[in-house]
Amino acid sequence: MGSEAPLLEVRDLTIALPAGRGGWTRIVEGVSFSIGAGEILGLVGESGSGKSMTALALMGLIDAPGARITGSARYRGQELIGLDRRRMRALRGAEIAMIFQDPMTAMTPVHTIGWQIDEQIRAHRRLSRAGARARTVQLLSEMGVPDPERAAGRYPHQLSGGLRQRAMIAMALSCDPSLLIADEPTTALDVTVQAQILDLLRRLRRDHGSAVLLITHDMGVVAETCDRTMVLYAGTVAERGPTAALFARPAHPYTAGLLDSIPPLRGARPARLPQIAGAPPNPAERPDGCPFQPRCAFGHDACGVRPALVACGAPGDGQAVACVLPSEGRPLPARLA
Ligand SMILES: Nc1ncnc2c1ncn2[C@@H]1O[C@H](COP(=O)(O)OP(=O)(O)OP(=O)(O)O)[C@@H](O)[C@H]1O
Ligand SMILES: [Mg+2]
Repeated sequence: MGSEAPLLEVRDLTIALPAGRGGWTRIVEGVSFSIGAGEILGLVGESGSGKSMTALALMGLIDAPGARITGSARYRGQELIGLDRRRMRALRGAEIAMIFQDPMTAMTPVHTIGWQIDEQIRAHRRLSRAGARARTVQLLSEMGVPDPERAAGRYPHQLSGGLRQRAMIAMALSCDPSLLIADEPTTALDVTVQAQILDLLRRLRRDHGSAVLLITHDMGVVAETCDRTMVLYAGTVAERGPTAALFARPAHPYTAGLLDSIPPLRGARPARLPQIAGAPPNPAERPDGCPFQPRCAFGHDACGVRPALVACGAPGDGQAVACVLPSEGRPLPARLA
């Protein structure tokens, strides 16, 4: 990326929710990352780790009452946190688009999907109704929607989950966003459609230079698609770095655990994949020290203090880990084959 400023630069993003008696629960804490133009960054972590909340904060769409968002998120130098609604709406759709985990977040049940995508296109582009519809049909077709003209005339509830998902992706892509935030875009889809969608994200990058923040809990999807990856654990960054480095040399025991739970690409699928024992802490009960310590096989006294994110791996490649083990020279045991 050289000395060029990144497209999106997030610093110390913290999202706190009121917890009663004047207290706060930080569901996302001190998260920093950047995305360069045309880059695909994977955001992974177990359910509840704060992936969607991080994305929604960037879009100005957190709807939890009383939520307090601090830190900074600069898009092309413009601060997104606290940006007024009008400016945020202008950015949304035209520059930054989001594929929501739940398609119905993005769609209204009272209009056909074609109407909704047309409107999205017309809100940001000077096109006639017919021109917009032509583009809508083309997008739906690119999304692999069979009989796209007919599908455009249907209401969201008349479509299967997979088709609804594809219609929403068409809507998100309708204005060639520079930054696409995709929250579990393929989870509800079968593997063939999943492969099509991932291919589409890569094409979006290739043809339009779009950057993608790809949220998933599927490390296989990450390996195939993402240039760099960030691992969230209980609302904090456990590790981040180039995907290849993270997969070859995970520095955080949690990353290693996530990788061990990927089914092998070839050969018989084992009856049971190894799982990381236990569950992430409830954000209100996150320990003061390393949040992963209660589940970590390598925890020791030093883990009672919250570890800072420090550089690790090959010099200059940007891999960083919030764990004391690598700097203590304690390598993780070799990954399970
Ligand atoms: N509207 C809300 N009000 C209050 N708490 C919320 C709200 N949405 C999410 N949370 C809490 O914030 C934390 C992070 O949730 P988030 O939805 O970001 O997780 P996630 O990583 O996207 O999980 P998943 O993989 O299940 O989608 C969780 O503890 C969740 O219970
Ligand atoms: Mg989520």
